[in-house]
Amino acid sequence: MLVSFDTPSTLWVGAGARFRLAEEVQRLGVGRILLVTDQHLLSTGILDDFQAQCQSEHIEVNIFPQVQPDPTDENVAAGLKHLRECAAEALVAIGGGSVMDAAKIIGIAVNNPESLSAFQGYHKIPKSGLPLIAVPTTAGTGSETTKAAVITDTTRQVKMMIFDRKLLPRVSLVDYELSLSMPPQLTAHVGIDTLAHGIEAFVSRKASRMTDPLALSCIQLTARYLPMAYQEPENREAREAMALAACQGGMAFTNSSVCLVHGMSRPLGAIFHLPHGLSNAVLLPSVTRFSLRGAPARYKQIAREMDFSRDRTSDESAGEALQEGLKALNAQLGIPTLRECVRVSQSEFESYLDKMAEDALASGSPQNNPVVPSANEIRDLYRSAW
Ligand SMILES: [Fe+2]
Repeated sequence: MLVSFDTPSTLWVGAGARFRLAEEVQRLGVGRILLVTDQHLLSTGILDDFQAQCQSEHIEVNIFPQVQPDPTDENVAAGLKHLRECAAEALVAIGGGSVMDAAKIIGIAVNNPESLSAFQGYHKIPKSGLPLIAVPTTAGTGSETTKAAVITDTTRQVKMMIFDRKLLPRVSLVDYELSLSMPPQLTAHVGIDTLAHGIEAFVSRKASRMTDPLALSCIQLTARYLPMAYQEPENREAREAMALAACQGGMAFTNSSVCLVHGMSRPLGAIFHLPHGLSNAVLLPSVTRFSLRGAPARYKQIAREMDFSRDRTSDESAGEALQEGLKALNAQLGIPTLRECVRVSQSEFESYLDKMAEDALASGSPQNNPVVPSANEIRDLYRSAW
């Protein structure tokens, strides 16, 4: 089987990776950067170190601190305006998935005048953008190693999945010390996102021998260390493991794919504004149950990696144990049910089922699932997750 595998050119992983920023900016041969982040991170003072490094190397730093959670096309337009005004030659994204995704598209938009909706889907970006250095502060989305960005189209109320090699950061600095102050709830949400990346990359129809080892390592690390990181936020071993899991999960799914969980999760984010990890978490157990028959041996292996199936020998019973284990993990991490987190009545929720099923299928992700669902089955899955 012929496979391709894309990663950032340079990855620094481990404590102190953040201190490589100025050196890596210099290696890009640029002297003026736009640092993209959000208001919360700006207020914590986390940027001070980065600015000091750049200052001592005479690198001009401009800051765009206005990235919103679940960034929109309007948010990207504001960042692009800022980028044009300061004429930065490279972008540095310091933050979670929203910040990294917004920075990726701001950097692309400067060289591509089309409306962002023209880039939705796979490999639709005509020209490369500015070089990007990604510095994740949460262990979750894996955006630091992916060629994907999710931006909401405010006109159509659609979370656009934009996937293109041109979105890969040139350099990523994965320093778990930046995630030590993440609160438990955010740790849980982004951690389940990481787990969903590992699971979906492994069961995907596009999985390969290049992505399998990364996906399995991601699953194993998350099963072992996410509850620990949730309960003991300052546990360095757990934070280090989760940063590695997120990075490996990103590499795995971006070279394999995500599947039905992510396909169904995006409409919940676009319409009901559920955080990405949370919308994955509420869907993961029921979508796993639906998909088991498409890849029973693979799901059995996942159940083993997560230590859910010690006494279950058949594929079927291991699959059941996996689904039960995922439910128990949600409970352990304080994840509410879909009904509890979507603050609308059941009838209002159901009025969106047709749109959500259509948008999920249009994203292309469900087509990589071990069992490819019909629109009707997707509607039923939303109902069963309720
Ligand atoms: Fe995700």
